[in-house]
Amino acid sequence: MKPEARRERLFREHFRQNRGGYAFAFVLIIGAVLTQLLIPKVLESFADAYAAGTLSPITALEHGFWLLLVAVLMAAIRIASRLRLYYLGRQFERSVRSRLFAHWLRLPAEYYQGRRIGDLMAHATNDMNLLREKANFGVMMLVEAIFLVSLSMVMMGVTVHPLLTFWVLLPLPLLSLAAYVFRRRIQRHSRGVQEAFADLNTRVQKFCSGIQVIKAFVQEPAELARYEEANRANVEANRRLIQSSAAFAAMSSLIVGLSFLIAMTYGGWLAMEGRITLGQFIAFHTYLAQLIWPIESIGRVINVFQRAAAAEQRIAGILAMEPSIRDEEALPVRTLKGHIVIRDLTFFYPGNSRPALHGVTLDIPAGSTLGVVGRVGSGKSTLVQLLLRLFDPPPGTIQVDGMPLERIPLAVLRSQIGYVPQDNFLFSTAIYDNIDFHPVSHTEAEIHGAASLAHIHEKIMQFPRQYGTLLGERGVTLSGGQRQRVCMARALLKEPSILILDDSLSAVDADTETRILQDLRRYRSGRTTIIVSHRISSVQDADQIIVLDEGRIVEQGTHDALLAAGGVYAQMAARQQREEPLPEKRLDGAGRSFHGKRHTSG
Ligand SMILES: Nc1ncnc2c1ncn2[C@@H]1O[C@H](COP(=O)(O)OP(=O)(O)OP(=O)(O)O)[C@@H](O)[C@H]1O
Ligand SMILES: [Mg+2]
Repeated sequence: MKPEARRERLFREHFRQNRGGYAFAFVLIIGAVLTQLLIPKVLESFADAYAAGTLSPITALEHGFWLLLVAVLMAAIRIASRLRLYYLGRQFERSVRSRLFAHWLRLPAEYYQGRRIGDLMAHATNDMNLLREKANFGVMMLVEAIFLVSLSMVMMGVTVHPLLTFWVLLPLPLLSLAAYVFRRRIQRHSRGVQEAFADLNTRVQKFCSGIQVIKAFVQEPAELARYEEANRANVEANRRLIQSSAAFAAMSSLIVGLSFLIAMTYGGWLAMEGRITLGQFIAFHTYLAQLIWPIESIGRVINVFQRAAAAEQRIAGILAMEPSIRDEEALPVRTLKGHIVIRDLTFFYPGNSRPALHGVTLDIPAGSTLGVVGRVGSGKSTLVQLLLRLFDPPPGTIQVDGMPLERIPLAVLRSQIGYVPQDNFLFSTAIYDNIDFHPVSHTEAEIHGAASLAHIHEKIMQFPRQYGTLLGERGVTLSGGQRQRVCMARALLKEPSILILDDSLSAVDADTETRILQDLRRYRSGRTTIIVSHRISSVQDADQIIVLDEGRIVEQGTHDALLAAGGVYAQMAARQQREEPLPEKRLDGAGRSFHGKRHTSG
C-alpha cells in the first residue's frame, strides 16, 4: 500500500475512536465562546446606562459583578476544554509512538542501513510533536476560531450594524493570509535555528568523543575554525528568525489597525448621528478586539495541519513498510539440533552488484565445529549473519535439520543460536543486564558460570559494584577484550544449539583466546559451533575449516590436511607463526606449531 493512501488515517482513526471525548470538548469550547460573547453586552449596558444618566454606584457594582461572573465561568469552561483536548492529544501521540516503536523493532537490519540515527530520532520526536500539536492545539484553535468568528460576526451585524460590520471585517482575511505566509517563513527560520543549534552541539560532541584524535593530529586550530563557523551560522539563523517574527508583528498590527480605523471613523460617525448608541459602539469594539486572535489563528491552524499532514505521511509510510524478513508458512519446531547444510549459496547485499558470497556449499553436522578464516571482506560475517536471517539468503540455499531456513520460525531460529557479533555491542546498563539479555531471566549462578567460561568473571568481581557495575557513558569503560568477553558471556548464557563466534576474541591476546576456547570444549560438545577468526590458532581444532576468498570457499579441510596442502591456509599459518612468537615456544625451544601453545595453556 502506498503511504499516500494512508495519509490522514492515523488521526482519523484516533478521532473516530475518541468521538465522545472530542464531542465533549467541542461542547465545552462552544460554551466558552458563548460566555465570552456576553462580555461586550455587559459593557454595552454599562455605557448606555452612563449615557442615559441612570448609572448609580449600585448599577456600576452590578455590572462589575456580571463581568466577574462571566470571566470566571469562561475561564473554568475553557480550562476544562483544554484539559480534555490536551489529554486526547497525548493519547494520540502515545498510541502512534508505541506503534512506531513496535514496528521499528520488526523491521530488518537492512532498514537501518543507510539511515541516519538523526532521521529516526526526528520521527520519534519532531513528527510526534507535530501530530500531537494537531490533535490538541490545532483542533482546539480551529473549533474555537470557527465559532468565535462566526458568532461574533452575527452579534456585530445583528445587534450593532450590518454595514459597519462588513467594512470593518473586510481587511481581516488579510490577517489570516499574513499569519499563514509569515508563520511558514518563521517555521522555516526556526528550523534553521534548530539545525544551527544541533550543528553546534554535534561539534561539541565530536570534539568530546574525538579529543584524543584531534590532539594527536594537531587539529585544534581547524576544529576551532569549524566551531566558529558553526557559531556564526547560529547567530545568522537567529537573526533571520527575529527579522521575520518582527515583520509579522508589524504587518499584523497594520492590518488590525486598519480595521480599528474603520470602526472608529465610520462607527463614530454612526454614533454621532445617533444611529447606534454609545453602548453599541463600545460593544462593537470589544467584539472586534475579541476577533483578532482567532482570525490570526486560522492562518496558524492551517500551518499546523499542513505540517502534521507531512509528519503523518512520513509515519504512515514507515508503518506501511512490511518487514521483508518474517515468518511465512513456519514449521512447528521449537528446538534445533544444529545440522546446517548450505547449498550453492550466492548472496548479494541489497544494491550491490558484486556477490558477498559466491556458490558456497557446506555441510556442518550437528555438534561439529566449523572454523572460518579468510581475508578482510571475504564474506565471513556475511555467512554467519545469513544463518541468523539478519539478511535473507535466497530461498532453499540453507537448511537446518533438513528444514529450509526460511520456514523455521524466526523466534525459534534466533533463540537457538548464540551469536557473538564481530562489532560487540554493550548497552549502557549494568553488566548483569548486559549478560542476562534474554527473554527469560537466568539465575545468578548461571550468569556467573557463563562469565567464568568467557574468562571475565574474575575481572567483574574486582569492580566495587561487581555485576551491578554500570557500563558506558555513566559507568566504567571496559577494554576491547573485556567487552568482547562480556558479549561472549551473553551468548554462552543462552545455552544455544548453535554457537557462532564472529571474530569475537580478536581483541583478546592469542594466549587467552586459546585458553577460553579450550575451556569451552566441554560446553561446546553437542553444540554446532562456528568460529570465525583471523587467527589460525583459534580454528585449528575445528572438525573442518574453510578458507573464504572474495566470497568463495577456496580451501576446505582439517588443520592438518590444509597445512599439508600447502595453500593459502598453510601460508597464513606460517606467517602467523612468525609474527606471534610466544613465550612457550622459546621455552620449549622447538618453535613448533600452535599445538605447542596449547600444551601450556591446557
Ligand atoms: N551490510 C552490508 N551491506 C553491503 N555490503 C556489505 C555489508 N556488509 C558487508 N558488506 C560487503 O560484503 C563483503 C563481505 O563482508 P563481510 O563483512 O562478510 O567480510 P568479513 O570476511 O567478515 O570481513 P572482516 O574480516 O573484516 O570481518 C565486503 O565486500 C563488504 O563490503
Ligand atoms: Mg567480519
